[in-house]
Parts: sequence; structure tokens; C-alpha cells
Amino acid sequence: MAATDLERISNAEPEPRSLSLGGHVGFDSLPDQLVSKSVTQGFSFNILCVGETGIGKSTLMNTLFNTTFETEEASHHEDCVRLRPQTYDLQESNVHLKLTIVDAVGFGDQINKDDSYRPIVDYIDAQFENYLQEELKIRRSLFDYHDTRIHVCLYFITPTGHSLKSLDLVTMKKLDSKVNIIPIIAKADTISKSELHKFKIKIMGELVSNGVQIYQFPTDDEAVAEINAVMNAHLPFAVVGSTEEVKVGNKLVRARQYPWGVVQVENENHCDFVKLREMLIRVNMEDLREQTHSRHYELYRRCKLEEMGFQDSDGDSQPFSLQETYEAKRKEFLSELQRKEEEMRQMFVNKVKETELELKEKERELHEKFEHLKRIHQEEKRKVEEKRRELEEETNAFNCRKAAMEALQSQALHATSQQPLRKDKDKKKSINLRSQKAAIM
Ligand code: GTP
Ligand code: MG
Repeated sequence: MAATDLERISNAEPEPRSLSLGGHVGFDSLPDQLVSKSVTQGFSFNILCVGETGIGKSTLMNTLFNTTFETEEASHHEDCVRLRPQTYDLQESNVHLKLTIVDAVGFGDQINKDDSYRPIVDYIDAQFENYLQEELKIRRSLFDYHDTRIHVCLYFITPTGHSLKSLDLVTMKKLDSKVNIIPIIAKADTISKSELHKFKIKIMGELVSNGVQIYQFPTDDEAVAEINAVMNAHLPFAVVGSTEEVKVGNKLVRARQYPWGVVQVENENHCDFVKLREMLIRVNMEDLREQTHSRHYELYRRCKLEEMGFQDSDGDSQPFSLQETYEAKRKEFLSELQRKEEEMRQMFVNKVKETELELKEKERELHEKFEHLKRIHQEEKRKVEEKRRELEEETNAFNCRKAAMEALQSQALHATSQQPLRKDKDKKKSINLRSQKAAIM
């Protein structure tokens, strides 16, 4: 025998021995205790309705739970898909159900539908995140925590009779690893029986060829294996919703009345409403809740913890302790912080240097400008000085001429007063003088 086999045998826990009891002990009441505890605690169930505006989501919810949930009609002009959750407390016998219906308002109404699935994915993830945060708390209160994780997504397919739209395929593909999807053909009364049969086959074919995983009713529990297997073959359910009551025979039934006849919601020859109600509420509600926790939430939790650096074992398959992972992560975080700090400091120094250089350059430019202005000013000053000198010279010349003229004038006056007889001669002289004076002026 190989050494590893021996090791395994010695490490294995001993098989527990079977013993028979001498009389009634009482632990056979455990299932009843469990039921009683669950009933006291109450249940929560969260349904996400995805389908285009006016496809019949609210009507179907009202029909399924046989009540009227207060919902508003959505407009066709939303600029993006918006998730609207509404929670109700329902009671049947002594069982309390906290039911949340989440509507994807405005789905399919945008011109660009590339990101229509994103708000839905984000909403589902946000509910997982809330649950994870509660689980990671030191003082957890999961017992009375309102679990808002989506347990089922009813995907309403438009009854075109052709094929699925690419928006349907893309959205279901993005959601299938996060939520249990049950596809349903809405307003099935608007499509003929033969067309419906072909439509169902086409839809299933397209889902398979595009690798979209829809929820399969479980067949591992003997009690429901048979009915679930049969129902799996009926997917997608073709449903009709109505809260209107119509008299058929002598009974009031929920139906849609047309000029040519009545479509009864609960008549299995008319639509698959009863099948949906049976599968969703009466047979598989607990499985949907369980699958959400053990499959979809588990996947989210694992990815999230791995992202945070936690793992179950190191490279050599040695179990990793939470403490060690925390320490390693802390060290990594601190060194990253230091690196970032250093980077920022360097950035700051560079920025200061850059600003300094810029300021120096500006100073130099200003200096050059000042020197230039100074030169212009000196040139102007020199020109003004020259002009002033020229003016002075002109003034001097003028003054000289003025003085000469005044001298001549006084001379002339003097001569007139001395010799009256020589009047004619002098007259001539005076004329000459006047012409000389004019020439000076
Ligand atoms: P929004 O919330 O506004 O997006 O609409 P909705 O998807 O909730 O649709 P709603 O239930 O308000 O129904 C819209 C219209 O479709 C109403 O006039 C309903 O009477 C009608 N309707 C609902 N279910 C069916 C159905 O199964 N068949 C037919 N023919 N009409 C239906
Ligand atoms: Mg509605």
C-alpha cells in the first residue's frame, strides 16, 4: 500500500456506529421544530420583473398573488433603466411573507440599448454586497436581516412569434450567473396556438445556442422530481394576466374578455399561468431561495473575497489563516500607500520647479519689455531736447532781427525831427527804410 493511502486511512475519521434506541427519545420532532421556527421568523421572497414597458408585468404580479399591488404606470421616456423595489407584507394562514417586487422601469425604451442590462446587474450585485457586509460584521444580525437578494427574475418576452431580440439575449446572458431566470412569454393570448408552439421551440433553441442558463426546476427531490421534469419541458411559460372577473357558466373566473370569446387565466388549455404559479410559488419557492444563497450569492462572495485577497489555501495547498491574509493585505496596502505618497511628493516637487521656471521666464520677459520701453523713452527725450534747442535758436534769431528793426526805427524818427527841409530826400529815404523793414519782417 502506498504511503499516502496509509496516511489517508490514519487521518480519516472513524465511521460512526449505528445503534438502536430502547424507546422514544423525541428528536424526531426536529423537522417540526424547524417548521415552527421558520414560521415564527417569517419568509422573504424577492422577484425581479424585467420586460418592456406595458408588457403586463404588474398585471401578472397582481394575478399571481391575487391582490392589487399599488404600482404606477411607467412612461416610455425614461433616459435609462431604473430599478424600483416595493415591499409588501402578505399573510396566508399563519405564514408571513415579506414580498419584494422589483420593476425594471424603462427597460427597452432607450434608443441606445447597449447598457440596458447594467443597472439591473448593479442592483443585483448591490443586494449581494449588502448581505456580504452584514455577514462580515462582528455583530451580525442575519436572523432579523431583511434579505433583499433577488430570488427569481421573471423575464417577460414580447409575443412576436418570431425570435428573441438581441436585447433579450444580451440581458439574460448578463444575468444568468447572478439570478434564477424564468423566461415567460407575456400576453400569450395575442399569439395563436400553433405559432406559440413554434415560438417556444425557437426561444429555447436560441437560449441554448447562445449559452444562456435559465433556471431548471430541480429534479433531485423525489417528491417533486416528476412534476418538475414535466414542467421543465414546458418552458418558457406562455402566460396571460388579468384581475378582471368574468362569469363563465355559473362561476366567476379571472379572465380577459374579447368580442369573440373569453381567455381564462387559470384554464390550462388557454395559457400556462397555472403552471407558472405552481412552479414559482407552490413547489419551488424554497429551492429558488436556496439556489440564490448557495449558487449565485456563493459565486459573488467567492469572487469578492478573492478580489480582496482572501483565499482558502496558498500555492502549496496549505490552509491560509484569515489573520495571515489580513496581515499580508495590510502590508501590501501600506507599501502601496507609501508608494503613492512618494509619487505625490515627487509630483509636487516637479510642479514647484515647473512653476519656478515659468515665473523666471515671465520675469525675464518683463525685464526685456522694461528695457525696450526705456530705450524708446530716451529716444523721445533726445528728440524733444533737439526740438527745444532749435526753437531756442529760432527765438534768438528773431530777437536779433527785432532789435535791429527797433534800432532802425529810432534812427528814422531821430532824422525826421532834425532836418525838415530835406523833407523830400528824406521821404525817399523813409520809403527805402519802410521797404527795408518789410524785407526784415
Ligand atoms: P409598466 O409597469 O408601465 O411598464 O407596464 P406593465 O408591464 O406593468 O404592464 P401592465 O400590467 O400595466 O399592463 C399594461 C397593459 O397590458 C394593460 O392594459 C393590461 O390590461 C394589458 N395586459 C396585461 N396583461 C395582459 C395579457 O396577458 N394579455 C393582454 N392582451 N393584455 C394584457
Ligand atoms: Mg407595471
